[in-house]
Amino acid sequence: MTVGESSAPRREFELGDREFRYLASFLTRETGIVVTDHKRQMVSGRLVKRLRALGMRSFTEYCDLIEGPDGHAEIENLVNALTTNITQFFREPHHFEHLRTRVLIPRAGEMPRRSRLRIWSAGCSSGQEPYTIAMIVAETLRPIEGWDALILATDIDTNMLARGAAGQYSAEEGATIPETYRKRYVRRVHGDHDRVQMSDDLRRLIRFRRLNLHEPWPMKGLFDVVFCRNVAIYFDKPTQHRLFNRYADVLVPGGMLYLGHAESLIGLTDRFEMSDKTVYRRK
Ligand SMILES: C[S@@+](CC[C@H](N)C(=O)[O-])C[C@H]1O[C@@H](n2cnc3c(N)ncnc32)[C@H](O)[C@@H]1O
Repeated sequence: MTVGESSAPRREFELGDREFRYLASFLTRETGIVVTDHKRQMVSGRLVKRLRALGMRSFTEYCDLIEGPDGHAEIENLVNALTTNITQFFREPHHFEHLRTRVLIPRAGEMPRRSRLRIWSAGCSSGQEPYTIAMIVAETLRPIEGWDALILATDIDTNMLARGAAGQYSAEEGATIPETYRKRYVRRVHGDHDRVQMSDDLRRLIRFRRLNLHEPWPMKGLFDVVFCRNVAIYFDKPTQHRLFNRYADVLVPGGMLYLGHAESLIGLTDRFEMSDKTVYRRK
């Protein structure tokens, strides 16, 4: 049988065992993200676009590129392709009610003595989470100009960060923003009724930066609040353990850590106590 000939129809690109294992362990080493065997189809589907863009004929060729001297240029695309970025404005709304009533309103009572507020949205994806935080902050701490308030929004995926920094979304994505906030902080994009734009007031509060949670963190000061929701779920237990202890290191005593609905600190660190469902207070 000659190359390309086969009795059964073959898919255009086949992700073999060896290549899958290589790419999966490369991703884990680089980002902490674990991809188990049942995700092979997903990995293959997402990377096929890269193979086509690079004019490659096989995953072996792609692995050779990553492994080779020019691999660094492709790593960003590889990581961007393999992250899962699902997010939404006002996702898990009880967290924002907790932020408003248990963190921000008490802090407003301490003004003007304590005007510095630092919040980190770690694994912010395309920005819906930090914009939601910004809406709650701007609305609760009015007038926000009197505060030294900043929201650091970080992710490993540069495509998502570009979307966040632009602050433009489809009208459908914007539809989960409650009307009171939408009226004040969101406007239609001129000439495109299917798109909405986050206000400059919100954008001024947020700094979008690329940061790999798996690497050293450059930030100096402490945070009052960290949101890390639906991120650690992709990591293994030892990586989660390290990550949650690092959050304890960068939070002020009494600072809050918000996790996703399927995540928990139980058995992973004793440096937090529970404040509410999936909300933890740094001891
Ligand atoms: C499912 S999204 C969660 C978005 C948002 N926090 C939420 O709950 O709606 C997970 C995000 O974590 C990011 N991520 C995964 N591994 C990361 C790492 N090692 N460093 C930084 N971000 C990472 C992904 O790029 C993705 O955007």
